[in-house]
Amino acid sequence: MITDSNILIVGSGGREHAIARALARNPQTRIFAAMNRMNPGIAELAYKVLITPETDAESIRNFCLQHKVTYACIGPEAPLEAGVVDTLTKAGIKCMGPAKEAAKIETDKTFCRNLMKKHQIPGLPEFYIFHSGTDAESFLRKTTKEFAIKPSGLTGGKGVRIIGEHLDHDQACQYVHELAGDIVIEERLIGEEFTLQAFVDGKTLVPMPLVQDHKRAYEGDFGPNTGGMGSYTLPDHRFPFVSDDDYNQAFSIMKKTVNALAAEGTPYIGILYGQFMNTATGPMVIEFNARFGDPEAMNVLSLLSSDFTAIVMAITSGTLENAEVVFAEKATVCKYLVPEGYPDAPVTDGKLVTGPENSAICYYASVVKEGDHLITQSSRTMAYVGIGDSLQEAERIAEEAASAVIGPVRHRRDIGTQMVLEKRVQHMKEIR
Ligand code: AMP
Ligand code: GLY
Repeated sequence: MITDSNILIVGSGGREHAIARALARNPQTRIFAAMNRMNPGIAELAYKVLITPETDAESIRNFCLQHKVTYACIGPEAPLEAGVVDTLTKAGIKCMGPAKEAAKIETDKTFCRNLMKKHQIPGLPEFYIFHSGTDAESFLRKTTKEFAIKPSGLTGGKGVRIIGEHLDHDQACQYVHELAGDIVIEERLIGEEFTLQAFVDGKTLVPMPLVQDHKRAYEGDFGPNTGGMGSYTLPDHRFPFVSDDDYNQAFSIMKKTVNALAAEGTPYIGILYGQFMNTATGPMVIEFNARFGDPEAMNVLSLLSSDFTAIVMAITSGTLENAEVVFAEKATVCKYLVPEGYPDAPVTDGKLVTGPENSAICYYASVVKEGDHLITQSSRTMAYVGIGDSLQEAERIAEEAASAVIGPVRHRRDIGTQMVLEKRVQHMKEIR
């Protein structure tokens, strides 16, 4: 039996709206929110809202103490890197989100790769670390091999460039000089991507349904990388292009990573997000995130049928082993509406009118509500999630709601279609 609980959500995107919705299903949960701009969906569910930089640990702590908040769910990576969890924990607030040192698994790619190497965790691509653009360039000049080039720190998923995909060798040699801080150069992985997220209490991991995100801005996976344009899951929580062996290997890599962090004296508590490339020889780690994915949170939390408040409590008290975690065996399709011109030159202050939504769930992101209208900002605007017995049904529900919105926004119509799924399956057959 869960007693009354005051829970804070940090963050203002679609992911945090999904967290708020999931928590709000427990009528005893009282939601508080700290966000850098007003998300109209979260505001509607929250008892009190604090508008603050999401990295301002002190103002968030004071807000919690003032309102007797005992738990906090951290949505984005920036507050994790800023040590918000460390500050809240010291004040006695239990956090679903890792402390700053453990969050380095996402915020510091050099740390992540070195940890995997030291603990001999499988799924590690060949990698090299450079402290300057000059050193990175001289390495690249000596090879014709295709590599992925990544700034070691956070870039909102937009700093990675792949030779042979986004740029050629010469352009790569120039690109490394544009990067600040350490540079990670790693083997270009070929395959199909999938995301495995898990609840983690420091030692136990409970997996969530597999999700596939779509990073590219345009249909057919063209255009610049974005924070994610949409995502889907299947009723069996797996994908036909990920075998049982691949899945077990990916989950084992995540468990080993959590064990490695514990062994280093930085136990991991929160959501671990594993981004994998399923290659000819099995899953390889593209990256870890120290939080739910956005949009991926909207898929999995829309399916969660057990009490999320109880799960947050189990994560933060080390009792996840005994927690009830059940996801409905249905498909989900999430489609983000983004301002025209996003991500390079987004049209802001565009007026939107929504149409019939039917059973689609609407999650707000970077959008302002003015009366009956919604006004676009510079980032992803809002998302629709369709839930169905089949992918086709879920896709139809999300697509109908997304295409009924009138105003200067666009979305990817191909996300969650059977054709895209078949393309992934076919690609996997070709490389294996
Ligand atoms: P990240 O910010 O690390 O998630 O990278 C963004 C995107 O770049 C990923 O979703 C992949 O599509 C791609 N990517 C990253 N690392 C690699 C790699 N080693 N090989 C191929 N593609 C990669
Ligand atoms: N959708 C990818 C991410 O949240 O990093």
